[in-house]
Amino acid sequence: MKIAILPGDGIGPEIVAQAVKVLNVLGEKFELESAPVGGAGYAAHGHPLPEGTLALAKAADAVLFGAVGDYQYDTLERALRPEQAILGLRKQLGLFANLRPAILYPDLANASTLKPEVVSGLDILIIRELTGDIYFGQPRGVRECPDGAFKGQREGYDTMRYAEGEIRRIAHVAFQAAQKRGKRLTSVDKANVLETFQFWKDIVTDVHKEYPDVALEHMYVDNAAMQLVRAPKKFDVIVTGNMFGDILSDQAAMLTGSIGMLPSASLDANNKGLYEPSHGSAPDIAGKGIANPLATILSAAMMLRYSLNKAEQADRIENAVKHVLSQGLRTADIYEAGTTKVGTEEMGNAVVKALV
Ligand code: IPM
Ligand code: MN
Repeated sequence: MKIAILPGDGIGPEIVAQAVKVLNVLGEKFELESAPVGGAGYAAHGHPLPEGTLALAKAADAVLFGAVGDYQYDTLERALRPEQAILGLRKQLGLFANLRPAILYPDLANASTLKPEVVSGLDILIIRELTGDIYFGQPRGVRECPDGAFKGQREGYDTMRYAEGEIRRIAHVAFQAAQKRGKRLTSVDKANVLETFQFWKDIVTDVHKEYPDVALEHMYVDNAAMQLVRAPKKFDVIVTGNMFGDILSDQAAMLTGSIGMLPSASLDANNKGLYEPSHGSAPDIAGKGIANPLATILSAAMMLRYSLNKAEQADRIENAVKHVLSQGLRTADIYEAGTTKVGTEEMGNAVVKALV
């Protein structure tokens, strides 16, 4: 089994190093190969997604990704910015299904800014469509405004669109995920305003006929944002488009108080996937040895479960993480009085120790 390791920028290399340590003590024969991506790709080869990196990702059974982005690359033209690496990988590898769990670990019940009774036991799964919507729709750009009160001025524009097959395939992923969990699916749209999302709603309703055992509800995105902070435990699985999913998944992550804990999987039609922490590259704390590696370690667990068919090994890692939390070990982002503050390496080593 070949795993492409793409550490990226900022805290990416530090946290990915801990996940690699964990993979190496499982007793499995993994072939790991690293390549630069994001700002690091630009620095090494003049492009955020160098050809060799893309080829490695395509040839691998799974990709473990750190994070991309750093201040020094913010002024590059859009096509060369670090973010293009992850967008390019998603598109080129056909990774249309993004699974973002938001789980509140009992040991971290106080980490949330919401009242403990609102979030304790929280376990929701956001499924975000990842290769369509306004993120990739053409045309887009800056042009001369063709009509209306601002006619003749410059205007920025993007295109929101979803093809039927694109909606169907993500709906199937969502219904099947709901079948394996609480059998409740919320499809989030903006059908009251947008044609694209009225169409989305109609297609999801149609796919529902194949999953009569799953309860489907439709919710407007603004209401969903409100319900997520009002009564988040009412959700089981949420499915939505690329843009709404980007926003709601950050919001859901923060319900747990610790975005440093949350993994994600981006899957193609054959369960080949890219696995990355839900958080970003945090350049402000890069190199300080204080970043939380657990989201990346848990992403490696998701990789074992979804792409490498090693559910038992995934369980082992997840249990090891729960164990170190129950020991009171905390990185700075989840630290509270009465626990033991540790750095990135120490946290990684503790998970390794819990495994062997
Ligand atoms: C995410 C990120 C990306 C996105 C950026 C870095 C392009 O915010 O993975 O959620 O918007 O999808
Ligand atoms: Mn995002």
